[in-house]
Amino acid sequence: MIDAVSFENGTLGYLDQRFLPLKEEYIRTQDYRQAIEAIKTLAVRGAPLIGIVAGYTVVLGLNSYNGNKEAFPSYFDSLIDEVEASRPTAVNLFFATARMKEVYDAHFASNSLEELFARMLAAAKKIHADEIVNCDNMARHGVELIHQDLAETLKTKKLTVLTHCNTGTLATGGSGTALGVIKHAWKEGLIEKVITAESRPLLQGLRLTAWELEKENIPFLSISDSSSAFLMQKGMINFGIVGADRIAANGDTANKIGTFAHAVSASVYNIPYYIAAPVSTIDITIDDGSQIPIEERSADELRTIFGTQVATPSTPVLNYAFDVTPNQYIRGIVTDKKAVVGSYSEELRTLFD
Ligand code: MRU
Repeated sequence: MIDAVSFENGTLGYLDQRFLPLKEEYIRTQDYRQAIEAIKTLAVRGAPLIGIVAGYTVVLGLNSYNGNKEAFPSYFDSLIDEVEASRPTAVNLFFATARMKEVYDAHFASNSLEELFARMLAAAKKIHADEIVNCDNMARHGVELIHQDLAETLKTKKLTVLTHCNTGTLATGGSGTALGVIKHAWKEGLIEKVITAESRPLLQGLRLTAWELEKENIPFLSISDSSSAFLMQKGMINFGIVGADRIAANGDTANKIGTFAHAVSASVYNIPYYIAAPVSTIDITIDDGSQIPIEERSADELRTIFGTQVATPSTPVLNYAFDVTPNQYIRGIVTDKKAVVGSYSEELRTLFD
């Protein structure tokens, strides 16, 4: 069992994902700045896991506070600002800090700091526990959707599925979003094999998804990102499913760079392409994908590969970490509440009722 993240006795534990699968290093820290650094450097990553770690990071920040109650509000504000500045795209991070702010607003005035901190710890633990349950619910709804949508194909053969980046236990603490659906569908005998796109430049597909699938004995093939259209043309892919970092109210979806290209290719060959994400990844406050902040990461992530220089240090680079897939390329969005197929602008709102 992969232990992506834990929080015990005031200590955050996490598997450092930067070196997987070659090195399995479990870090333990009580330092909230180290936890922020872990989010920034992708030692922990994946939208739901970023949210979970953000909640615990706030708790670590509270634990290191040694001032009085009067001075606390300004400390709390700057702590939240620091956590929120770690990564911009995954809305789960802001979902988590919003939860912590709600607890603060409701309980600061009438409680001691000790009582307030205990409530915040409980809120952070609940975010973590909820994301694990969300994965199981997404898996259930996703498998139902596959049964319905791919019934014809399933009459004659098992399915080959394309996925991108890593959306499993490492990204969620539970079974996963898209990878959770895949694992569940495989257990039900619907899947022949998984094709995992490498996900340049940090190789979450090649390193992390492959590692998870190997542990579960699920057959898979890794491909370069640019192979997917060719494999679709050859009839080698029956459907695609990926996770999300932020979904706008109209269903436009930000996910790991490369997702959009797979989705466009899938639409050319009429291959269903799904998103799986918990409701905590839907940003109902923004109308469409053009408003999603897209993280740009350092040029060196492209110019070097695992520390080895592969381009001159002066090579100009544009390194977007995410892209936005417009809703018309998305056959369905599987959430923990239900699977939504089309009419996203109306249907996604109902998930918040
Ligand atoms: O940069 P990362 O590795 O944090 O990007 C992760 C992704 O793009 C995932 O697909 C997304 O967060 C969904 S994770 C369940």
